[in-house]
Amino acid sequence: MKIHSISFKNFYSYHEADLDLSKYASGLVGIEGINKDSGGSNGAGKSVILEAIVFALFGRTIRKSNEAAMVNVQAKRGMEVIIKVEDMVIIRKRKPSSLNVWIAGEERTQAHASTTQEIIEQHLGVDYKTFMSAAVFGQHSTVDFLDANPDDKRKIINNFLNLSYIFDKKADIKERRSSMRAKIRENEVLINKLNTDIAKYEGMSGQSLTEHQAAIVRSYTLEQIIDMRSDNWGKERTISSYNDEIRSVPSDVRNARKAVKNGVGSDQSWTCKSCGTKFDGKLTQEQYDHCVGIVDEWEDKVKSFKDHVKQLKKELKRLPCTVSEYQKWSSLSPVDGILADSRAELEEVLELNYQLQDKYDMLGFWDKAFSEKGLVRYVIRTVRDYLNDKCNFYLAYLTQGQVSLTFDDELVENIEVVGRERHYISLSGGEKRKVNLAVMLALQSILSVSNGTESNVLFFDEVAENLDEHGIRGLIDLLYELRKDKTVFVITHNPHLASHMESHKKITITKEQGISTIS
Ligand SMILES: Nc1ncnc2c1ncn2[C@@H]1O[C@H](COP(=O)(O)OP(=O)(O)OP(=O)(O)O)[C@@H](O)[C@H]1O
Ligand SMILES: [Mg+2]
Repeated sequence: MKIHSISFKNFYSYHEADLDLSKYASGLVGIEGINKDSGGSNGAGKSVILEAIVFALFGRTIRKSNEAAMVNVQAKRGMEVIIKVEDMVIIRKRKPSSLNVWIAGEERTQAHASTTQEIIEQHLGVDYKTFMSAAVFGQHSTVDFLDANPDDKRKIINNFLNLSYIFDKKADIKERRSSMRAKIRENEVLINKLNTDIAKYEGMSGQSLTEHQAAIVRSYTLEQIIDMRSDNWGKERTISSYNDEIRSVPSDVRNARKAVKNGVGSDQSWTCKSCGTKFDGKLTQEQYDHCVGIVDEWEDKVKSFKDHVKQLKKELKRLPCTVSEYQKWSSLSPVDGILADSRAELEEVLELNYQLQDKYDMLGFWDKAFSEKGLVRYVIRTVRDYLNDKCNFYLAYLTQGQVSLTFDDELVENIEVVGRERHYISLSGGEKRKVNLAVMLALQSILSVSNGTESNVLFFDEVAENLDEHGIRGLIDLLYELRKDKTVFVITHNPHLASHMESHKKITITKEQGISTIS
């Protein structure tokens, strides 16, 4: 993370200040203070520079100030902090409050300040705690890596290692898994329903319709079948009455047939009912002809009856089924079709669910792999050794090899002072300082090898205080080491360190009549 410049208005003891950090390049820069009001250096406004940077980046201060405490008491309003960092410009104001951000010249301000802040931190790759653990050391700072709980320590390391992509992946996997789980549940409900349906249809299948019967029910109505049946009945009645007529040959016809058969001269004894002619005695030629006429007339009548019957028989309709069959069939549903469909659908859903379950299980593996226990732990374990090496490298400077520190897998520290194990909380103020300083610098190194978000600036605000002579000497060696590739700002009241700083660049803060200015 490269900070180019910081400027602020009506911030603590300042009315207006501009600091172009880029002009210092790498090296040591002493920040000295002259408080003309009190005659010393305390309260000149040195630490406020650091406050301005932290506030500009994160909207929070180091010394836990509230809004009223930050805004210059004389101005009372119009507080403004502008920082240029990387390709980003952040403008944060109080009284009235606002937060605006531009990235690569494009405004990325969101409707809510919290969302804008998320964008800033995402772009920087660090949050407040990470920045405080890695770039700020000293006065007022309450964020020390060793004071953090294991969870926070892991979070800080994750941040340092830019593991956010792993967490993004993890969130993505979690989301995909839960929507998959929901789909599997949905399918299970459908599978249950299909199974119940299938059992029901199987029970009904014995009384189900054949395809032919179902077609009849579909093609005809009951009324049509009844009409067809009555029509047939009417015709059948007519046919049977014609047949009755044909069968009941009248007595005249029978006698006339007999007379024609026996011929002229045969004996006759009968009376024609239709014309009243008496046949008594020998059959005359005239009577013979009369009889032939009766027989012919009858034959003609029979022929016409037979023609009618033939025609009527032709007209008889073939019923697709009886009325009672139709009534029975139409009361049944064609379940065989539904049964087949349900079985096919069940097979499809089961197959889909097997596939989903497979994918779900596979994502479960990745979920674990990307979890704190998986990949993250693995990465932490890998960097742990690096972190331990670096801590002890810096501790060697600061303690002449008397204190050593190792982090375990859980990032719980194990501290030894002259070969004896000690708890961090039971260390002296000076020992704590040395250990914390070493950890902070080791974390810095991790940043530089991991994601390039390493800060180009380091702030040591009264870091030399309560260090013994060995410690100061070690610190000076360290500062010389660090200045090779960073701008290291040093605020100190320690005469030994201050005298060392004399030969380096200097920023002077002067406070007069309550107002600080930078020169
Ligand atoms: N709202 C405010 N308006 C004006 N001045 C303020 C306001 N809040 C704090 N101050 C003053 O601003 C100054 C802040 O100075 P700062 O903390 O930077 O001191 P310093 O130079 O680091 O001194 P020390 O060496 O004691 O740490 C203090 O004198 C403080 O009293
Ligand atoms: Mg200070």
